[in-house]
Amino acid sequence: METAFNEETFRNDFSFKNSAKAIRRFPFPFSEDGYMYTVNMEPHVPGPKGTVFEPMFDVDEHYLSEMHDRALVLNEDPLRCQSLPHMTLAGWDLLELIMESKARDYPEWFELHKDGQAWHWINRPLGIDQKFTFLDESTLPYGPMEYITRQSQGDFTLQDQRDENLWMDAGMVTTQADWSLDFDIGMGFHEWHAPVPRAHEMGVFDRALKFLLKLQHGAPVRRFNWTLTVDPLLDTSPENYPKWGPMRADIRPENVGERMYLRVELQTLYRLPRSNGIAFAIRCYLIRFDDLVTIPKWGRRLHRVLRDIPDDLATYKGFLRNRNSLVQWLSQYDDGLPTSVGWMPD
Ligand code: HEM
Repeated sequence: METAFNEETFRNDFSFKNSAKAIRRFPFPFSEDGYMYTVNMEPHVPGPKGTVFEPMFDVDEHYLSEMHDRALVLNEDPLRCQSLPHMTLAGWDLLELIMESKARDYPEWFELHKDGQAWHWINRPLGIDQKFTFLDESTLPYGPMEYITRQSQGDFTLQDQRDENLWMDAGMVTTQADWSLDFDIGMGFHEWHAPVPRAHEMGVFDRALKFLLKLQHGAPVRRFNWTLTVDPLLDTSPENYPKWGPMRADIRPENVGERMYLRVELQTLYRLPRSNGIAFAIRCYLIRFDDLVTIPKWGRRLHRVLRDIPDDLATYKGFLRNRNSLVQWLSQYDDGLPTSVGWMPD
C-alpha cells in the first residue's frame, strides 16, 4: 500500500495537512490566467499517471479522516443523506459502479466477489467485510447509496431523468460549498442552479442540460468547480453557516497564507445502467495558500484569477469582502512572467 492515511481533523483544531505528494498532485483548476463560467466538460478517462484522474474514484491520504468527518456530520444531521423512494435502483447502480471501480483501481485495498446476486465486499482501510445480496436492501446496514457513500470521499447526488430534465432526487451531501440537499431535493436542473449569477443568461445551463440528457453509459465526463474557504472545513453547508460564516471576518493580510484554502471540486458524471439516472460525484480537494504558492505557476496564476474575477462571481463564491487582502498577499508571488498553458506545474 503506497498511500499512508493521515489522522487529521476538518473541524475544531483543523489538523488537516497535505503531504508534499498531495500538493504536487493537487488538481489546480485554472488552465489560464482568468476565470469565467463555461460548459467545461471533458471525457473522464484515466490518466495521466500520478494525477487525481488516474483512478475513476480517487482514494488519497485523507480517506479515513474524511469518512470519519462524514459520520460525524450524519450523526448530527441525518438529513444530509436522503433518497426519494423511486431512487433505490439508482442507489444500487451507484454502489456497483463504486465497488467495481475501487476493486479494479485499488486491488490492495478493495475486493468485490460476485456469485450471481450473492456479493462479497471487502474494504481493508475501513475494516469492512460485507456479504450481501445485490438488489436486496435488507442485507445491508443502510440503503445502497448511503452504504457506499459512507465509504467514498466526496459528495454524491443521484438525478432521475424524466420530462427532458434531471431531478435531484437523492444524495449524500456533507462536504458542500454552501448549498443544501435538504433544500434542493426534488428540484430540476435550472431550479437548483437558480442562485448562480450570469450562467443562466450566458446559456451555460441550457447547453449543459442538453449535453447531460444524452450522456451515455460507460462514457463518464468531468469538470472542475472551485471556491475559497477559511480553514480546512469540509462541511461549509448553509445548515452550519453560524459556525463558518463569522470565520470570514478573521482574515487579515498576516494570516492569509495559513488560513485561506483553495477548495476544488472534481465533478464527475455517470449514466447509470439500470435506472437510467445520472450520478454526480463532487470530490473536494483543499489546499492551503502557503502550500499552493510552493508551485510558482499556481501562485502567479491564482493572483491574476482572483484580481480579475468579476465582483458578482466573487460575491457568489463568498470572498468579495476579503478579496483585497488575498490579492495583496498573492501579489508577492506574481513576478509578472507569462504562465504556461494548462494547469500542470511547470
Ligand atoms: C447533475 C449534475 C449537476 C448537479 C447535481 C449540480 C449541482 C449544483 C449545485 C447544487 C450548485 C450550487 C447552487 C447554489 O448556489 O445553491 C451548482 C453550482 C454550479 N453548477 Fe452545477 N450541477 C450539475 C451539473 C453542472 C454542469 C454540467 C455544469 C456545467 C456548466 C454546472 C455548472 C455550475 C456552475 C457554474 C455553478 C456555480 C459554481 C460556483 O461558481 O461556485 N453544473 N451546481
